[in-house]
Amino acid sequence: MNSNHGHDAEDFNTSSNPSLNDVLDARLSRRNVLRVSMGTAGTAVLGTLSLSACGGGSDDTPVAAAPAPVAPASVAPAPVAPRPLSLSFAAVAKNLTDLVTVPTGYTAAPIFALGDPLTAATPAYRNDGTDTDFENRAGDHHDGIEYFGLNAAGTARDVAGSERGLLAMNHEALTDQFLHANGTTANPRPAAEADKEIPAHGVSIVEVRKVAGKFAYQSDSSFNRRVTPLTPIQINGPVRGNALVKTKFSSSGNDARGTVNNCGTGYTPWGTFLTAEENWNGYFTRVATDDAARGGATARSVVSLIRYGRPQGAASRHGWETAGSADRYDRFNISQRGSSTDGTDDYRNELNTFGYIVEIDPYDRNVAIRKRTALGRFAHESASYSRLIAGKPLAVYMGDDSRGEYMYKFVTAANWDAADASPANRITTGDKYLDNGKLYVAKFASDGSGQWIELTLGNAAIAAASYKFVDQADVLVNARLAADAVGATRMDRPEWSAVDPKTGEIYYTLTNNSNRKVEPSSSAQQGLDAANPRSYTDAPTATAPGNVNGHIVRLKESGGESAATAFTWDIYLFGAEAGADAAKVNLSSLTADNDMSSPDGLWFSPKTGLVFIQTDDGAFTDVTNCMMLIGMPGTVGDGTTPTLSYTKTDGSTVTVQTRVGAKPTAATLRRFLVGPNDCEITGITETPDGKTIFVNIQHPGEAISKANLADPAKYLSHWPGNAGYGAGGSNARPRSATIVITRNDGGLIGVDGTAVLNSY
Ligand code: FEO
Ligand code: CA
Ligand code: CA
Ligand code: CA
Repeated sequence: MNSNHGHDAEDFNTSSNPSLNDVLDARLSRRNVLRVSMGTAGTAVLGTLSLSACGGGSDDTPVAAAPAPVAPASVAPAPVAPRPLSLSFAAVAKNLTDLVTVPTGYTAAPIFALGDPLTAATPAYRNDGTDTDFENRAGDHHDGIEYFGLNAAGTARDVAGSERGLLAMNHEALTDQFLHANGTTANPRPAAEADKEIPAHGVSIVEVRKVAGKFAYQSDSSFNRRVTPLTPIQINGPVRGNALVKTKFSSSGNDARGTVNNCGTGYTPWGTFLTAEENWNGYFTRVATDDAARGGATARSVVSLIRYGRPQGAASRHGWETAGSADRYDRFNISQRGSSTDGTDDYRNELNTFGYIVEIDPYDRNVAIRKRTALGRFAHESASYSRLIAGKPLAVYMGDDSRGEYMYKFVTAANWDAADASPANRITTGDKYLDNGKLYVAKFASDGSGQWIELTLGNAAIAAASYKFVDQADVLVNARLAADAVGATRMDRPEWSAVDPKTGEIYYTLTNNSNRKVEPSSSAQQGLDAANPRSYTDAPTATAPGNVNGHIVRLKESGGESAATAFTWDIYLFGAEAGADAAKVNLSSLTADNDMSSPDGLWFSPKTGLVFIQTDDGAFTDVTNCMMLIGMPGTVGDGTTPTLSYTKTDGSTVTVQTRVGAKPTAATLRRFLVGPNDCEITGITETPDGKTIFVNIQHPGEAISKANLADPAKYLSHWPGNAGYGAGGSNARPRSATIVITRNDGGLIGVDGTAVLNSY
């Protein structure tokens, strides 16, 4: 979510874990820093760019620089020699246009926006704050998204289905003012408002289908459904039935009620959807005297609650607990109020039922949804898979998005069986792989190596931690505390992870970190280290703004093994403005065609192997709206090892050596899309033929106060109404929405050539 609004830039890690490489010798070579960057297409390309607004759909001009289109196989069966893929679109210029901008030769159109009906009986969205019934409508703040193919008849999964499929997507949060006719009411919240806001969170599953050559969503599909904070979900894995998750809702500790703040996603190799619970903690409140009720500040539950961002007296984000005495509201007050010893007469343990990767079978509404507790509990961002190798375990890579938090991986106990790519029962296949395995946390070393440290009671540091873990379920529920104990590396807000299908290397976006300081002045701040080496250099003091633009770190598992406990790493890309200091800020030599800030969404196309980078930025937004870039990255270690130098307030010098991947060129990284005003670009998926992508536009125009609600001229965005989608036109309330993007000549997205990775 947008860093301007503070929802996910929270920091609760006050561990004293060392910055790995605080200060290196200034004798280290700086020659590579000064190397002239490689040429780019630069302004020549920009000069020929025409901006095509979303929904236009009439621009059939081929991409100027593209080779002749390859005829579809059905038309021209003559064999053609495979050609390596190359980026084939003109970079989109940075802009502040309140529309989606894509390259000439592409068409982008909204197809599924906040409030759109998911049943034939649900009225069209009026978009004036009077709509209700969000259990049967698209939720708000579209985030991660995955496509699941259907056969032509729409009756079953078809992994190659590119004409008809299901989109499963997250609805992370709310622009709550726009959900109500006159904005939100202060606490106590009216039940009628809470009853709209609660189900506007969660997940949508919606059928999309090509009609007359264009994808549209099907409002009457029997596959359509919502999963919300009220949907019963089964707790699976080692935490199931544990004392930590017994509540008034589930005295057995086997069940949880709902999912909330769903951020990034994952697509399992067996065809299910993974949704990541991120900033769930903020929805719950504790009264100011709750520590004493729980036995004082050293009580285990109090230590845990503080580490997960709920000190006593913390207010809930939406005040839903004030909407009435009914259980569905009361559960947001997690204070210890009952007299039971096991917590089954109140919601003191409710927070422990959130913070997981959740698995949903998008094709089957009748199978229980599962919280996969073996993958640990933290502010989950996404879940990406290692390459599939028969007979080897799978790894699932995950980030914990708060300042100074960690990177994790889960390694399955089961070895991959290729037959499981098309299993008879998808969700029990999920049980096989995701309920049993080992959870690891990353520790980086300054020499370019790193370790995955298993989080287990068998680790002496965990056994000796000041928080006394009682069992492995406790280690998983309190994964942050276990990771603190083993000295994991505190990172610059790990957001999405993604695995390069060509190399198997693992990429993580580190979006930014205002707590990354040259001179940390509290335990909440982190000093510089090789993997998080940058703080804004013109103000190298404790008050400096930290790592403003973020970076993307890249890992290579030792021996290419998903179960490896050692890796090597470098930094694929540093976010920066093109004009920034090349030796200290613009370390990847970004140009006007590919400069960006605060990478967040991250995905590799299984079809083409291209990487897609999406931004959620608050630093570059005076110049450009958030964006998506397409790249062709290299491999770990293909770049340089510059040393950054900072001046402390006493005038002394601090240096830190880092490892920067090969600098991108016009041939390897270009801006593909710029979004409407005040939005975040997050979530992307493709049809298996690689010719259609779906991208989510989150919270356009979210910065709206109740005072300005009556005056559309004060809205920061009117998208997608201003693009002709839905009610409201140029005065519309803005809506989060999914867009569909195709290339007008029917080609692969972003690229020319025939050497595709995966033909399904
Ligand atoms: Fe929901 Fe960390 O982004
Ligand atoms: Ca957001
Ligand atoms: Ca973000
Ligand atoms: Ca994100």
